[in-house]
Amino acid sequence: MIPLLGARLTEIAGVQAGDDVLDVAAGTGNAALPAAATGAKVTAVDITVELLRAGSERARNAGLDIRWVHGDAHALPLRDSSFDRVISCVGVQFCADPPTTAAELLRVCRPGGWVALIAWTREGFIGQVLSAVAKATSVVSSIWSPLDWGSEEKVSLLMAQQVEPIAFGREHALMAAESAAGWVDYMADAYGPLVRARTALASRGEWDALRLRLIQIASAHGQGTGGKFSARAEYLTAVMRRHAQPNPRTDPKVRG
Ligand SMILES: C[S@@+](CC[C@H](N)C(=O)[O-])C[C@H]1O[C@@H](n2cnc3c(N)ncnc32)[C@H](O)[C@@H]1O
Repeated sequence: MIPLLGARLTEIAGVQAGDDVLDVAAGTGNAALPAAATGAKVTAVDITVELLRAGSERARNAGLDIRWVHGDAHALPLRDSSFDRVISCVGVQFCADPPTTAAELLRVCRPGGWVALIAWTREGFIGQVLSAVAKATSVVSSIWSPLDWGSEEKVSLLMAQQVEPIAFGREHALMAAESAAGWVDYMADAYGPLVRARTALASRGEWDALRLRLIQIASAHGQGTGGKFSARAEYLTAVMRRHAQPNPRTDPKVRG
């Protein structure tokens, strides 16, 4: 549903031939593939082995050389300061602990290197879908929510002490299907958070209520052209540069 976002992230991150690029929570390489197509040296890390396998096959078919690494974004199995650009396309947004994930993105980024992210906003279409899913499944959240990655203020709090001012933007991805109900049913079959919700709620007879709520949300965002469903889903772009020198005020390693 979001193939264009990976190419967009590669563009806003300024990925160039020869860069060492890390795509975190890369899935099947939605951002890793277009990044590698620029001639960058790309590493793609994800916690889901099946997605890495599918990504590896996609890259092989496209003639692209990407290093696929199985790992958790909360404890990346990668050296400090080893990448020029660290990117994540609606990826770190799905990691449970935002402060730990933010620290890992910064740790593996070279001083003076770039971190660029795309994340669904809380107010946008997908943000509302994810909020409804969290409410229906009674996910007990910490003080941080995954949707905080879609907020300028929260991303600043997560990253600001170790990066230059952050360039934010709000853009939209187009979602399309035969109907609002068709879109929800497709997502409930194919999109991790909805698949998990449907599996958990169906056994308690509660899935139909959430499905109806999601169809309402989708219908409210539908733009309805030619009887088909299409909706604009807002996402945040954030591009930031890691400080070139460690900051003695905020970096524990140099505080002494
Ligand atoms: C919505 S998908 C996005 C995938 C890809 N970036 C894209 O644009 O299609 C979210 C991804 O986050 C991965 N993920 C979730 N928790 C993770 C974690 N703790 N560490 C690494 N990857 C994780 C999932 O396996 C999944 O591939």
